[in-house]
Amino acid sequence: MDDRLQGKVCLITGAAQGIGAAYARRMAASGADIGIVDLTRIDQAATVVADIEAMGRRAVAIKADVTKADEMDAVAAEVIGKLGGIDCLVNNAALMFDQLTASWDDFLAVNFMGVVNASNAVVPHMWERHRGSIVNISSTAAFPLPLNDPSPIPEDAPAPRVDPSGYGLTKWMLIHHTRQMARSLGGRNIRVNAVCPGVTMSPATKAVVPGMIVDALANAAALRSTLEPEDMTGIVLFLASDDSSKMTGQTIINDAGTVFAG
Ligand SMILES: NC(=O)c1ccc[n+]([C@@H]2O[C@H](COP(=O)([O-])OP(=O)(O)OC[C@H]3O[C@@H](n4cnc5c(N)ncnc54)[C@H](O)[C@@H]3O)[C@@H](O)[C@H]2O)c1
Repeated sequence: MDDRLQGKVCLITGAAQGIGAAYARRMAASGADIGIVDLTRIDQAATVVADIEAMGRRAVAIKADVTKADEMDAVAAEVIGKLGGIDCLVNNAALMFDQLTASWDDFLAVNFMGVVNASNAVVPHMWERHRGSIVNISSTAAFPLPLNDPSPIPEDAPAPRVDPSGYGLTKWMLIHHTRQMARSLGGRNIRVNAVCPGVTMSPATKAVVPGMIVDALANAAALRSTLEPEDMTGIVLFLASDDSSKMTGQTIINDAGTVFAG
């Protein structure tokens, strides 16, 4: 049995379903008690909580909006009160399911400021205890992918607009912010790392990413594969655990070998 998180408490945002729920189950199976935050999908957290309790661990699910700093402060206080502390924060909530209708302001508020708000809510507690691990879930979308549209460009085709990708750019901002946070907090033994999943077959991906894009991404991967939510959980568990006790400010890409960065 993996007991690397025995006695620890992990708070995971956006964990009512999808990849966040896979983190919750895996971290509980490794001994942690779990705080779950979600907003519109909070009702789906009931099955995650039941699974965690069936493992003999404690879980609390809280409806809150990561874009609201005061709500995240209240979440941190509730989890600390009910579960005894917070050892690890996984900043997983993002506009993935909801990305097709999101504006740049929405992406900035959820994907980036949501991470800032949740982190600011737990950092004073970790600072006081001289320990903690924060894992920011970025994406390989942070790196423009090596995929071109194979169709020929007609001579009279209008120039494309070059507006920023709200999803990809906010995920890139998280990599910068992870390094900034690691510098600010390392003096108190608070570690901050980022993880970039590649295309992962969560319910959100199945709902919003066209099959031909999924196939193209799988073909571009060295391992000729997409990921399942469970494929992401080992890295987050590692970053939450003392196995990574000397690791901070880093970005780990787990994408079946599509983006090679270093
Ligand atoms: N699925 C992929 O292929 C993929 C690839 C790279 C990175 N990611 C990242 O992994 C994470 C999980 O992805 P997923 O596929 O499970 O997506 P998802 O959309 O299913 O999960 C995100 C969760 O965040 C919640 N959420 C959204 N806005 C919120 C808010 N304001 N406050 C609180 N909760 C909120 C949603 O309700 C949802 O449950 C996201 O950060 C995503 O960007 C996913």
